Formats: sequence, C-alpha cells, structure tokens
Amino acid sequence: MRNPQLNGHGELQHLLTIEGLPRDILLSILDTAAPFTEVAEREVKKIPLLRGKSVFNLFFENSTRTRTTFEIAAKRLSADVINLNINTSSTAKGESLLDTVDNLAAMHADMFVVRHASSGAPFLIAEHLARTGRDHIHVVNAGDGRHAHPTQGLLDMYTVRHYKKDFSNLVVAVVGDVLHSRVARSEIHALTTLGVPEVRVIAPKTLLPTEVERLGVRVFHDLKEGLKGVDVVMMLRLQNERMQGALLPSRQEYFKEFGLTQEKLDLAKPDAIVLHPGPMNRGVEIDSAVADGGRAVILPQVTFGIAVRMAVMSMLAGH
Ligand code: CP
Repeated sequence: MRNPQLNGHGELQHLLTIEGLPRDILLSILDTAAPFTEVAEREVKKIPLLRGKSVFNLFFENSTRTRTTFEIAAKRLSADVINLNINTSSTAKGESLLDTVDNLAAMHADMFVVRHASSGAPFLIAEHLARTGRDHIHVVNAGDGRHAHPTQGLLDMYTVRHYKKDFSNLVVAVVGDVLHSRVARSEIHALTTLGVPEVRVIAPKTLLPTEVERLGVRVFHDLKEGLKGVDVVMMLRLQNERMQGALLPSRQEYFKEFGLTQEKLDLAKPDAIVLHPGPMNRGVEIDSAVADGGRAVILPQVTFGIAVRMAVMSMLAGH
C-alpha cells in the first residue's frame, strides 16, 4: 500500500506523521531547511517559492510557537496566509470539520496547516480531499491529540544535528509525560529512523504507554540513572489537560523525582544539550536554572522551527 503522505513519485504530498516516513525524506527536509535559516534569521528577507499560494492556518487548539512560526515561514516564502480564528468561525455554530474544510477549499486553498485536539483529524482531512479529487491541496499536521507533531519532531532533529553534527553516535533521553505527548512520539520515530543508536525514555510507569519498548527505546524509571552518559536531553511538558484521573501524587513530588535540575543534568555528558518543545512548566518538569542555563537550546529550537517549516512547505509545493 502506498504511503498516504507520499505521491506516486515518492515525494512529500502531506506531512501527517513521522512514523513510516523514509529516512531520506527526513534528511531531505533537514538539508532543505539549512539555507532557510538565513531567511529565518532575517539575513535574507523573503523568497518567492510560494508566491500566489494560499496557506490556511486552522488551529482548533491553542498555540504560540507552532502557529506563529508557520505564519512567519509561509510569509517568508511569499505565500498569502489566512489564519482562521476558530473561536469566531462557524465551527462555534456547529459546522463540521469537513464542511469547514470544503468551504475553505472552495476559496482556493493550496495548503491547510491543522492543529486539532482529536488524534487523526489531519488524516481525516487528507483522506477527504483525496476522496473528493482535491489532493492537490496539501495538509500539514501541526499537532493532533496525543498522536503526532511532525514539524516539532523535525525541528528537534534539526537542533540536535546543528549542535551534535551526527546522529550515529548519540545517546538521547526523552524525559517526562510520554503517555500524553504527541511530541514524544514524533521525536522517537525521528530519532530511530535517523539512526540514533540509543534512545531512552525516562518517566514514571503511569506516564508511559504500554509496550513503549516496541518503539525501539530503553526504559528508565529513575531520572538520575537514565541521564548518565546522555548527549541530548529532550524534556516534555506535563500534559495536565490530557490527564484523566490521578496519575501523579502531586506536581511537587513529580518535580522532586523527574524535574530536571542542574544537579541531575550534571550526570549527563559535560556537553549535553537540553531541549524542550514549550510551553514549559517551570518548577514542574524543568528548573529555571536549567531552562535559562548555558546547556539549554530551547529558544534556538524556536528559530530553527521557522526554517524547518519553510522547508516542509516548499517541498510540499514541489520545490
Ligand atoms: N511546541 C509547541 O507545539 O508549542 P505551541 O503549543 O505553542 O505551538
């Protein structure tokens, strides 16, 4: 069966998840992003790769970094960007997701960037467009439920490669609420596809999916043990809004056991870097001294996100 994210020539048609994407496509996105960092950093103002194209940002869930960097990326590629305000759109009157999509497609959309609280919503849109003969419209998943956040996974890989140069000799730890995290799933699929030899997950048992080992990771339930000898620490936000029932004794207890402090970070390699996708819960999963310290690359991640999103959109548009 053909990968629904690739067209008949094996090129990127939609970006819905990193799972199942070939390594050469991931590397091609990272390579394409590299020259765009000059545009992201304003050394070059705009390039015309998406001139005449309309990109619709459909964010059914809150966002600061992803929505804004997609908008910046699309504008730097010279696209027209339409940000649908979901709270004041007809979704609030009960219009279905696919009816909204049909109406926006009738306005000659070229690309939908979709964030939705329901896992699978971007897949549903892509399938609907294919079924109705409009698969020239591209769909980018900007985070769906607890399933996937592929551009976050890719910008994290860009950040790791920027600082560590090579994936083939790294030990990477993903720390925290893996169970509810779409970022964790995208990061793990990207790291294993790109050939990182040891990917660790470090979390309490209640915050790990069952059979997480099947994703190709080593499991640790002790942060100090899991951080030993690590090159890259990828922190996760405690996803309070997706938790049902009491999975943790308290936020204070969580910080004591799984919060990243300088003392615990000192167990990793001396040149280890710390990533966090944001938004951060300071004093819950990460101490401010680490978040603002010399090993954190959290704000560079955001800037690289512009270049990576430019790369994805320009590749989808056939460049
Ligand atoms: N990392 C991330 O998705 O952040 P936002 O929710 O602010 O977009």
